[in-house]
Amino acid sequence: MGKDVIIACDFSSKEEVLSFLDKFKDEKPFVKIGMELFYAAGPDIVREIKQRGHKIFLDLKLHDIPNTVMKAMKVLANLDVDMTNLHAAGTAAMMEAAIKGLTREDGTRPILIAVTQLTSTSEERMRDELLIERPIDSVVMHYAMNAKKAGLDGVVCSPLEAHKVHDICGHSFVTVTPGVRFADGEIGDQVRVMTPAQAKEIGSDYIVVGRPITQADDPVAAYRRCVEEFVG
Ligand code: C5P
Repeated sequence: MGKDVIIACDFSSKEEVLSFLDKFKDEKPFVKIGMELFYAAGPDIVREIKQRGHKIFLDLKLHDIPNTVMKAMKVLANLDVDMTNLHAAGTAAMMEAAIKGLTREDGTRPILIAVTQLTSTSEERMRDELLIERPIDSVVMHYAMNAKKAGLDGVVCSPLEAHKVHDICGHSFVTVTPGVRFADGEIGDQVRVMTPAQAKEIGSDYIVVGRPITQADDPVAAYRRCVEEFVG
């Protein structure tokens, strides 16, 4: 899988995201569309951005019974997204059904990655509310292994976990890592961050970068800096 920078397009309307993408004249960045934009603008926004020549990671984090996820994934595959995701907590049956739904008649399918435990879930909450007693680190690695066994391509994880995921699940298992910040930039609400260069060193396959690019005075320059540091 090729290394790439994915821009998290966390905008709330079609107009905002398209005017942001209009700034890019010479390159067509890989973009992440999340729930907010998808629910606000609908599948048409995916078709429109795709038509403009961008690759799309549709970050909807599916989690439901296997049959429902299979049918929903079939719709997403027909939208021609390049990457999408689900919660590994849905178990192997759901993940296998997702792959079945995503696989097109010609055998191709978007990259499918799993969310293990959300970074907003602390070990304490996992124990007290979800009744999962193990250390969060082993839960994350176990869910990653479940995803691999079910045939998924990789996981979303912190850049700090990417190395271990590769050790446990193999180097071809994709790590998609948010929480990236420039060495001289604002951290914002992220806690454990890494620079694009550090993410490269540690072996992330894709970095997801939002505000350091979308809120920059010159987003195109910030994107180029990310690519330069991460892809080289
Ligand atoms: O603006 P920023 O670079 O923090 O954006 C990171 C993106 O990655 C956001 O879309 C955020 O929802 C997503 N994300 C994250 N941490 C996770 C999972 C996803 O920041 N653990």
